[in-house]
Amino acid sequence: PSYTELYRPQFHFTPSKNWMNDPSGLLYHEGIYHLFYQYNPGGATWGAMSWGHATSRDLTHWEQQPVALLARGYPNNITEMFFTGSAVVDVDNTSGFGHSGKTPLVAMYTSYYPYAQTMPSGKTVQANQQAQSIAYSLDNGMTWTTYDAANPVISDPPAPYSDQFLNFRDPNIFWHKPTKKWIAVLSLAELHKLLIYTSKDLKNWTLASEFGPVNAVGGVWECPNLFPLSVDGDDDNLKWVAMIGLNPGGPPGTIGSGTQYVVGNFDGTTFTAEADSLYSGTTPPPSDSIVFADFEGTGSFADLGWTPAGDLIGQSPVNGTLRGQNPVTGYLGKRLVNTFLNGDATTGTLTSRSFTISKRYINFLIGGGHDFNNTAVHLKVDGQIVRSATGTNSESLSWQSWDVGSLLNQTAVIQIVDTSSGGWGHINVDEISFSDSMARSQVANWVDWGPDFYAAQSYNGLPPDEHIAIAWMNNWQYAGVIPTSPWRSATSIPREFSLKTIDGKATLVQAPTEKWGSIVRRKALDRSWSSLNQGTKSLGSVGKALQIELSFSDREPAAAEASQFGIIVRATPDLKQQTRVGYDFSTKEIFVDRSQSGDVSFDGTFPATYYAPLAATAKGQINLRIYVDWSSVEVFGGEGETTMTAQIFPSDSAAHAQIFSTGGNTQNVRIRINEISSAWA
Ligand code: FRU
Repeated sequence: PSYTELYRPQFHFTPSKNWMNDPSGLLYHEGIYHLFYQYNPGGATWGAMSWGHATSRDLTHWEQQPVALLARGYPNNITEMFFTGSAVVDVDNTSGFGHSGKTPLVAMYTSYYPYAQTMPSGKTVQANQQAQSIAYSLDNGMTWTTYDAANPVISDPPAPYSDQFLNFRDPNIFWHKPTKKWIAVLSLAELHKLLIYTSKDLKNWTLASEFGPVNAVGGVWECPNLFPLSVDGDDDNLKWVAMIGLNPGGPPGTIGSGTQYVVGNFDGTTFTAEADSLYSGTTPPPSDSIVFADFEGTGSFADLGWTPAGDLIGQSPVNGTLRGQNPVTGYLGKRLVNTFLNGDATTGTLTSRSFTISKRYINFLIGGGHDFNNTAVHLKVDGQIVRSATGTNSESLSWQSWDVGSLLNQTAVIQIVDTSSGGWGHINVDEISFSDSMARSQVANWVDWGPDFYAAQSYNGLPPDEHIAIAWMNNWQYAGVIPTSPWRSATSIPREFSLKTIDGKATLVQAPTEKWGSIVRRKALDRSWSSLNQGTKSLGSVGKALQIELSFSDREPAAAEASQFGIIVRATPDLKQQTRVGYDFSTKEIFVDRSQSGDVSFDGTFPATYYAPLAATAKGQINLRIYVDWSSVEVFGGEGETTMTAQIFPSDSAAHAQIFSTGGNTQNVRIRINEISSAWA
């Protein structure tokens, strides 16, 4: 392939054609970086999950390889799909898979079985079960053999969670040197729990401990990772980082997928979070909250100003079967609705109310029942859904927050929606309020604050002081409809991870690791200004794939004015299409505004602005490194303690750039732009 199609990333990996999601086995071995990934060999939407494969010697130039694990029975009678997992080099041949001096590579993945069946090992699995299996390669990762004699090697979740067999996935395996054991970290997705197993041989696994729920718990927890990083470059001060995908439930202001991390300690058995990496879960809403939905107790929607004006559901279960729970006070505590509908689903909008948005955040409690995930809350402006949230079926309510700072003073409608398709379930929402601060449970350590950084995984097999991670640069909210063809989805720039003490706290910092020297084509621009006047300054046509370094002084925000400095990239000559990347001096936040970035029509939530906190350096400078590709923007703020990743789909003619300084002049501005050439040429 030529890799010159509209939107084809020039320095990010994409499969030559078809659908990709999570990195599923990142392994460095004998000078080669292997990238295995969730892949549909038969089309450009999710399905027939297999492990695709690509290799690189420099994390910059990639070579497409044949599919490594093809869905069993593909294409006509798929009996097993290969979901996300990871891979290791079994140097000491603990598995016994090696022979004739060949070192085995071993992968562990989630087997997903569309049908109940008896496996060649004699084990039986249920329809839609997820269980963990292994495969090995004796030719350095090019071809793989599934371990049919015993797969799945971890077939069911442990007893207290045995009902979770439909949502038990994404093994992250690695060698733990101090205890000389293999570790597998797995997700009980719906319960927001990680399970940690140990093994001597990669075949027999023993449950060692569990972790969670902590911090952000929107949606499901997926794709866990656990790895050590030294703090401030001190090899004697190692801390462990648990990295966890959430879907939906990403950073405030995003919709859909996101990735959080927790810093702690791992002793080979148990992961213990550090106190300053934890935020307490369900705490009362911020004290300045203007509550406009407190449904506790009895009454009707009409009393509270909501329409339609029926009784608060939940006090009269349709079928009377409440599993011994008290529907009013006992089961989930405060709630709007707690329905047990039997064969009589009230789907669609249950109640709604119109408001003027008066503060930056909308916070609310949302939850679900035991078996189903039926609760959604939508925020609509001008008839369009601009924010949405779903509850989880974890039998508890948790806080979610929307950043609606960009919608202040607009009239909006909040709808509470039953998304069930029939049967029974619970709808739970309460305490919807406006506030200047976020409700606690979306307070977390976010790996990336943008909308398109998910299922991140760190490399196995690297030297101990190197830690490189790659994410899926997409979001389940719209992944299946992004306007690319004949492929769908790219990976993020590979990122070097480390921990740095910032404000007394071990903080993840990230740096892009590509070999820029091999693909940076030419300097497009290098300019500085001691003071740049308020207004805009055109930089002309600088290109579509760019490396930008932008630094400037922090300043006192002008009162009552948008006070921002930044750069517009991927703009058409008429500026109708543009992506804005900048800094807001009043909120001390980086932002990426993709509301007019090109094709934004395929999903109602896509055109939006995203924000992330960033403090100035000790000298009062803001430093941004911005990587622009044919369909993405990645921002590394400061020393890499804040990153933001967003897809964009601008037209071919969108190669212009412009600087903007609003609400005042900006001092000490330096901008350097290099044009990046294709890594595929
Ligand atoms: C995350 C995920 C994983 C799962 C895989 C299936 O994006 O849902 O939990 O293993 O995708 O493709």
